[in-house]
Amino acid sequence: MAVMMSDRAKAIEPFYVMKILQQARELESQGRSIIHMEIGEPDFPSPEIVLKAGKQALDDQLTHYTPANGLPELRAAIANEYSCQAKVDPERIVVTPGASGALQLVMAMLLNPGDGIMLADPGYPCNRHIASLFNADIQAVAVNEESDYQLTAELVQNNWRENTRVVLIASPSNPTGTLIPQQQLSAIYQLVQDNGAALIVDEIYHGLVYDQEAVSSLCCGDQLFVINSFSKYYGMTGWRIGWLVMPDEYIEVANRLAQNMFLAAPTVSQYAALAALGTEARKELIRRREIFHQRRDILLPLVEEAGFIVRTLPAGAFYIYADCGAISDDSLKLCDDLLQQAGVAITPGIDFGSNNCKSYVRFSYANTVENLQEGMRRIRQSINKVRSRQNEAAQPG
Ligand SMILES: Cc1ncc(COP(=O)(O)O)c(C=O)c1O
Repeated sequence: MAVMMSDRAKAIEPFYVMKILQQARELESQGRSIIHMEIGEPDFPSPEIVLKAGKQALDDQLTHYTPANGLPELRAAIANEYSCQAKVDPERIVVTPGASGALQLVMAMLLNPGDGIMLADPGYPCNRHIASLFNADIQAVAVNEESDYQLTAELVQNNWRENTRVVLIASPSNPTGTLIPQQQLSAIYQLVQDNGAALIVDEIYHGLVYDQEAVSSLCCGDQLFVINSFSKYYGMTGWRIGWLVMPDEYIEVANRLAQNMFLAAPTVSQYAALAALGTEARKELIRRREIFHQRRDILLPLVEEAGFIVRTLPAGAFYIYADCGAISDDSLKLCDDLLQQAGVAITPGIDFGSNNCKSYVRFSYANTVENLQEGMRRIRQSINKVRSRQNEAAQPG
């Protein structure tokens, strides 16, 4: 039978990092030692109390559907997380299968075919891929170190098109780990409102912000869509649980869409997530944030010593986005060489867009300090070897 496939399915791009991961696993199965600095999830298991709550939910046979928008007590606990910064009615929250579920829901809610969605390039690839599934017009705006790789009100204004309906921001961003300053966020919020469009802010890395307090974009007002998840800060990637906060007017339609798109987020995971918001988990999560912070401070100079350029301090997440232009102008090949020759896996910039991304790579510090140090030692050695070979070849005679 001929393979039937929609144009949108044909067009969806792969994640190169997955290819790197697969190759890394193959090399490992052949006995090679590989240091993983490509992975986009915490190396820690879920906190003990979360595991316990998940097991308890199973023992209590809590395996039926919850309401489509999530367990009321979980929505109340999530609303409470914002209470120091903004007042959020739990009714405005829908619990989703990960931030990915929230992104799909919000895009289904806001985008008609041909509508423009403005986002930063480089940025998290699934944002543009999901928007493409809804036949949106992807309006990627090239950002650089001048704006900490984030959109600014000026960039939004200058790149506004007649069909722009949605602006999407991620703060801290993947791959750059940079934050959008509160003042810029407020200005963008106002601008988007004035244009009758919608603002989506992905705050999935909000728990993992170092050196400063992360302020939720909900402080700007209640006319925006905020995405978050238990995946990263709470160490619960495999539980598939996240949430969306929306303006009052969207509660009913979000419910209808959730009923149709996924019926409800996984029940056991919702009980586990409830435990993740308790005081016992909080202590452990703060301890882990401190560990990520230390790793960033250890890894950053090692990345620079190896010849990469880090143009702006990553304020959060667990990534360092580094210019590899002085080493190679083909980051995919560089990543491949480093994996094969040095046994270190990192992510090529091309996963994140087309804005100069061939000259960038992403390092993840979701690994132990010992492994990060060893990984960078191997990378340095491999780069030095290539350089000395090049120098020898350039010698006359
Ligand atoms: C910026 C960003 N948003 C959303 C997601 C999706 O996360 P999840 O669906 O696991 O909650 C990720 C995962 O890497 C991400 O980096």
